[in-house]
Amino acid sequence: MVKTPIYLDYQATTPMDVRVLDVMMPYLTGKFGNPHSSTHRFGWEAEAALDIAREQVANCIEAKPEEIIFTSGATESNNMALKGVMDVWGEKKPHLITVCTEHKCVLEAAADCERHGYRVTYLPVGADGLIDLKRLKAEITDQTALVSIMAVNNEIGVIQPVKEIGALCRGAGVLFHTDAAQAFGKIPLHVDDMNIDLMSISGHKIYGPKGVGALYKRSGRHTALSPQMSGGGQEAGWRSGTQAPALVAGLGAAASLCQDEMAQEHSRLDRLMAAFKSRLFEAMPELVVNGHPEQRWVGNLNVSFPGLDGDLLLANIRDIAVSSGAACASAVSGPSYVLQSIGRSEAVAKSSIRIGIGRMTTDEELDYAATVLVDAVATMGGLKP
Ligand SMILES: Cc1ncc(COP(=O)(O)O)c(C=O)c1O
Repeated sequence: MVKTPIYLDYQATTPMDVRVLDVMMPYLTGKFGNPHSSTHRFGWEAEAALDIAREQVANCIEAKPEEIIFTSGATESNNMALKGVMDVWGEKKPHLITVCTEHKCVLEAAADCERHGYRVTYLPVGADGLIDLKRLKAEITDQTALVSIMAVNNEIGVIQPVKEIGALCRGAGVLFHTDAAQAFGKIPLHVDDMNIDLMSISGHKIYGPKGVGALYKRSGRHTALSPQMSGGGQEAGWRSGTQAPALVAGLGAAASLCQDEMAQEHSRLDRLMAAFKSRLFEAMPELVVNGHPEQRWVGNLNVSFPGLDGDLLLANIRDIAVSSGAACASAVSGPSYVLQSIGRSEAVAKSSIRIGIGRMTTDEELDYAATVLVDAVATMGGLKP
């Protein structure tokens, strides 16, 4: 008998892996020192936790440990990257390029940049959710300081052509930041190979704790940021404030597990998702997948149920935790701007739900979820394409 409710919202957050919790526990009790206390053992052992985690996060993306800045999460990292870079380049290069389907924290940080007098270009995406590289190339000028494009979209799961974007930016002498909250630890991301200059990382999307993340910042003068948090000069001066050793140790452990298990987890999720999709599509061939059919993270399925209201559907499948198309920014309601950006009408966007699977998802859970979904749609009168 499958245990309910069933969690299928892995893009919103992930359950913490108990192996991560084991690593964190000592830093919540006995090893409670301030990692920035340099005069005694309590400080040194807490500092050692930061050192280990820095190396683990760096290893996952083939970066150097000193290029990892710990933050409170990807929201902070994205704000640091966009505002920090634009502030450094100022009037010399006042132009930023991003994409209209980015997470709200990138779009709002870009809007803040606009309020500070910088010019922002919001690239459109095609019906598959991907950017057009020619269009990106055409928008870059000698005034452009930064291109910020996410690796994996949190709503529709599409994977942007990160390596090609990196090559293009490097060739044009423009910095490249990627919001990798949904990609880090899940797909291979190598900062040198992909010419990534800045990368945002979140702990709670990779089976680690909430409230911690990192910004990868390529070393060197070129990638200087104006710090957004002033204070004691922690994190080499880039981000002041006492670090949380337990959270940071958890982030490091989570990154390391993701790295070790990436290939095996990918193929397991691929198999689970393929079986789940075929059950749904056999019963409901009218379903429409949102986003590129192949160039997507295997743990995400964003699907429209033509003729149905997504929120009503969710109300009919109460013991299955998925999200409606609009769920990514808790303060914002209405049809998803991401789905509208790929050309879905308001009605179709409102008929969509996002299903996310991950490390703890089982075959039995997905069997049960498919049955519940198919039954709920039938009860609601079926699909009306
Ligand atoms: C693509 C993306 N960027 C940024 C964030 C924000 O991350 P955090 O919760 O760590 O601030 C999220 C989480 O919803 C996300 O999915």
